[in-house]
Amino acid sequence: MKKVITYGTYDLFHEGHYNLLKNAKALGDYLIVGVTSDYFDKSRGKFNVRDSLMKRIDNVRATGFADEVIVEEYFGQKIDDIKRFNIDIFTVGSDWKGYFDYLNEYCEVKYLPRTQGISSTQIRNSDNLKLGIIGNESILDRFLDEAKFVSGIEIVGIYSKVDTVDSTYKSNQYNTLNQYKSIEDMISDVDAVYINLPLNERDLVIEQVLDLKKHVLTEFPFSCNLDITKRLFQKSRENQLVLMEGLKTAYAPAFTKLIALARSGQIGKILNVDANFTQVLGNELENQIRIAGGSVLSLASYPLLAIFKLLGFNYNKVDFISHKVDDIDILSKINIIYDNAMASATVAINAKAEGDLVISGSKGYIYVPAPWWKTEFFELRFEDVNLNRKYFYKFEGEGLRYELVEFLKCIREKTESFSMSHQDILEEVKILDTYVSGKNIITI
Ligand code: CTP
Repeated sequence: MKKVITYGTYDLFHEGHYNLLKNAKALGDYLIVGVTSDYFDKSRGKFNVRDSLMKRIDNVRATGFADEVIVEEYFGQKIDDIKRFNIDIFTVGSDWKGYFDYLNEYCEVKYLPRTQGISSTQIRNSDNLKLGIIGNESILDRFLDEAKFVSGIEIVGIYSKVDTVDSTYKSNQYNTLNQYKSIEDMISDVDAVYINLPLNERDLVIEQVLDLKKHVLTEFPFSCNLDITKRLFQKSRENQLVLMEGLKTAYAPAFTKLIALARSGQIGKILNVDANFTQVLGNELENQIRIAGGSVLSLASYPLLAIFKLLGFNYNKVDFISHKVDDIDILSKINIIYDNAMASATVAINAKAEGDLVISGSKGYIYVPAPWWKTEFFELRFEDVNLNRKYFYKFEGEGLRYELVEFLKCIREKTESFSMSHQDILEEVKILDTYVSGKNIITI
């Protein structure tokens, strides 16, 4: 019996996939089809796959050509599969010509003619989300670089009150973008807006864009005003608009896995969380204070995300210790007390400490080294070191692509983000609101 194997993502199943599978089956007697897992696709830079793994598998099965379907999960799996299943022929479309010649050592490699004029990328790009940008703070360059990795987004242009803010902090790519004269001028050209404004200008503009019936992705922190935030979420729900906060860690696959693992009881009951994010901003300090404020407003969103994901929202007390210079907290500690657990976050914009995350449990702890907010590696550690386990993941680029992928997905599926829900955001804002109201703060 001649065994054939082929691999693909098979997103938005199309004629090209059908023809490829038909021709692959015709090469032998038994066809195995490897369908890529979501995580594997992301780790090889393929973001924005639309169909779920189950749907993609179902579509492959529905052709009737596959005798067996397997999931492709890691680099190097092809060699393992070829040996394991005793494969005679490995085949893929001619777009990969030459790429898989290294498999000749294990079986025959055949490149099949590719169906012209169709691909998943082409279908995905046919209904691009038209995105406008409001605000021109320095993260814009990173945002634009990251957006290039996400198919399905077209950056239509930018609106920024450029003259009103010191131009030394402006993005280098601003001048390459189509520049609108006002938000109203831009709005009819876009489906959604990315808001990259200083914190004190953010909520009003979010409201304006929601009133103009467009989806919103905003920089973090979402706001420091709880009442306004509630009003904005109500407005987004009434108008069925996606309103999301661009806090990259929340959408990164490794962070999600870390939280799931910690909550699954592997280290017992979670008793304490210590999460730190500190920076010495130097020349950038003044600009950061202008954009967000001191250390709590600039950075607390990250540790609060981890603390709330791990311990939930039912805390009894929050208090703050802030070291202020010229009325700006350059270093702050936030303590959150629960019935049976506690958490603390250290944030700084002009002081440095280890930026790690330690989750302590009744059986062991999880150590995530700096920078934990770009989670790539963590370790489960126990009293008996033989039980320790290390986990490695990939954090792609600057990570902003993850929030963009999620934004697109939420708009397409008309859902709220599960990774960072409205409730998650409200709880973050509640803490920031408490802080700016001056409650429970010891100042030194
Ligand atoms: N394929 C084909 N003809 C096409 C498109 C794909 O023969 N027009 C083949 C590919 O060569 C591969 C298989 O179908 O062997 C699965 O490809 P996949 O990468 O899932 O599909 P694409 O449409 O190429 O997806 P993308 O645009 O996301 O790369």
